[in-house]
Amino acid sequence: MKKVTCTAPVNIAVILLGGKRNEELILPINSSLSVTLHQDQLKTTTSIATSRDITEDRIWLNGKEDDINHPRLQSCLREIRRLARKRRSSGSEDGASRNLNYKVHICSVNNFPTAAGLASSAAGYACLVYTLAELYGVEGELSEIARQGSGSACRSMYGGFVQWLMGEREDGKDSLAQQVEAETHWPELRVLILVASAEKKHVGSTAGMQTSVKTSPLLKMRAESVVPGRMEEMIESIRKKDFESFGQLTMKDSNQFHATCLDTFPPIFYLNQVSQQIINLVHRYNAHYGQTKVAYSFDAGPNAVLFLLEPTVNEFVEVVKHSFPPAPNGDPFIKGLPVSPAPLSQELTTAIEGDACPGGVRYVIITQTGPGPAQSQDPTLDLLGADGLPRSSA
Ligand code: DP6
Repeated sequence: MKKVTCTAPVNIAVILLGGKRNEELILPINSSLSVTLHQDQLKTTTSIATSRDITEDRIWLNGKEDDINHPRLQSCLREIRRLARKRRSSGSEDGASRNLNYKVHICSVNNFPTAAGLASSAAGYACLVYTLAELYGVEGELSEIARQGSGSACRSMYGGFVQWLMGEREDGKDSLAQQVEAETHWPELRVLILVASAEKKHVGSTAGMQTSVKTSPLLKMRAESVVPGRMEEMIESIRKKDFESFGQLTMKDSNQFHATCLDTFPPIFYLNQVSQQIINLVHRYNAHYGQTKVAYSFDAGPNAVLFLLEPTVNEFVEVVKHSFPPAPNGDPFIKGLPVSPAPLSQELTTAIEGDACPGGVRYVIITQTGPGPAQSQDPTLDLLGADGLPRSSA
């Protein structure tokens, strides 16, 4: 039996994808740009086994068997196997693609709640495609295949700062992810995820975007007239590590994305009251300092992703605790990278005063930029047993 285990990261868009021009190939109406988060805090782990004794393709997600016939899953399997066959027929086989006629068992787990608006499908499909490629010994451009699982998954194929070029071709061959800067480029950048709700999303982003493409004139205007210039400005601000510009663009892009959701007919509401309170809090905090010290982004759900530089983290975590006092349920409120207590000045407390909303934020994950997918050498991460079936802990 051949078995491979890999891990892949979550990415957070700072220039957001607004919709698709081709649903089947998953081709976007605009380019987008994201920050890859560190796998120490958020990751998907996938193990795939293949052998003569495995007679049908099967998949288990977060402990439950799932439908292997899902069209997007089938696209990824088909495309990787096609590349592996091509490699074999070109004679560059090193033995890894020999087992192509065998079926696979796929087992995948997230170390964070699925479908809570934390881009789990991006990490999931990136991990699936990367692990399949390792299993079959396929190299080369894999983001095009990950894109066919979930659009944003193509951006999780790289670490650091990543752009997904929309491309122009009908066949999608030029709709690819590219690294803009590596994860080591901006070491002071930190990311706080304020989990406002662990409920499942009400409107999935796939269905929501389809309605937006059909009905929102603002979405079309944004894709044609706003995003191209913003992509350039965003790349420039990342290259220069200019937080003021990076933060402003991030917030404006998130706000415009949600404006297109409201412009969709019938409208889509991803932000809830807690999301709006977080937006106000960030603006009050920045106004107090007269500069952009914290920036927010929201995608298809109410959770806030905040960007800030390392020296701001301790104080802003206190600000969050002050405005959203943790529910006294004994669960850890702060997860991820360590923080130290920081006293809030009277002036700051007055400046950020709004309605305190106890329990509005369930918990905060503190993380940073991180690397792309990688094969695991740690046998304890292997999710499949010697029989090719999920271990009881998977
Ligand atoms: C709002 O990549 O989730 O998060 O291909 O339908 O799975 P599917 O779409 P998906 O769209 C992401 C939309 C977004 C913005 C973004 O991440 O760019």
